[in-house]
Amino acid sequence: MRKLIAGNWKMNGTSADLPELAQLASTHSGSSVDVVICGPATLLSRMADTGLKIGGEDCHPANSGAYTGDISAAMIADTGATYVITGHSERRTDHAEDDALIASKTEAGWNANLHVIICIGETEAQYRAGDTLDILRAQMDQSIPDAATAATTTIAYEPVWAIGTGLTPTPDEIAAVHAALREHLKTRFGSEGAQMRLLYGGSVKASNADDIFALPNVDGALVGGASLKATDFSPIITALQ
Ligand code: G3P
Repeated sequence: MRKLIAGNWKMNGTSADLPELAQLASTHSGSSVDVVICGPATLLSRMADTGLKIGGEDCHPANSGAYTGDISAAMIADTGATYVITGHSERRTDHAEDDALIASKTEAGWNANLHVIICIGETEAQYRAGDTLDILRAQMDQSIPDAATAATTTIAYEPVWAIGTGLTPTPDEIAAVHAALREHLKTRFGSEGAQMRLLYGGSVKASNADDIFALPNVDGALVGGASLKATDFSPIITALQ
């Protein structure tokens, strides 16, 4: 499997930020890993013009219709994007998205020929209670549709308490969680589960990327804050290669 490094710009970015992408595209063209930037819908077309792989940050489960302010997977694909994120914890929390809705959005992404990055992650309270694996297995069972394959789907483990906080689990903890996720995927999806990429996300930066990427079953990362500037993101991409 090719490793994957995906940036998630969240609600950041205007046309003034496009030169950051042009710089990334020229530095990492021909990279041995997949480099994707998931950005705001307003910029996707122009992001795609850089030649980088581009993704949406969310999609509606329907193809079209009376859903003011929403964006369908087909619209995202129409911009030239080839990826979409579903189930990010900020969507789960801020928009009350549950696993069933995330599964529907994931199917909508596949139907538009988008590769879907499905996010899962435990809260700090769940982590402290020792419930991490139970929570993650339940999220995987309910938010990953049965038809998932390694070609269409990537799973991103993002502990909610590690997002934007500068905190991360220890390398041993990340390795243990990813090993458990891999086993769970193999049990459900067989050889597809063995091949499905597993990303780590949550306060990834240049200073911890080498240690995280050296861990077994870590096939890349989903990066928030450190993906906004080419000077921050580029060394993380290089660390994965
Ligand atoms: O989706 C990526 C994200 O939630 C992690 O954000 O800023 O901690 O890298 P950050």
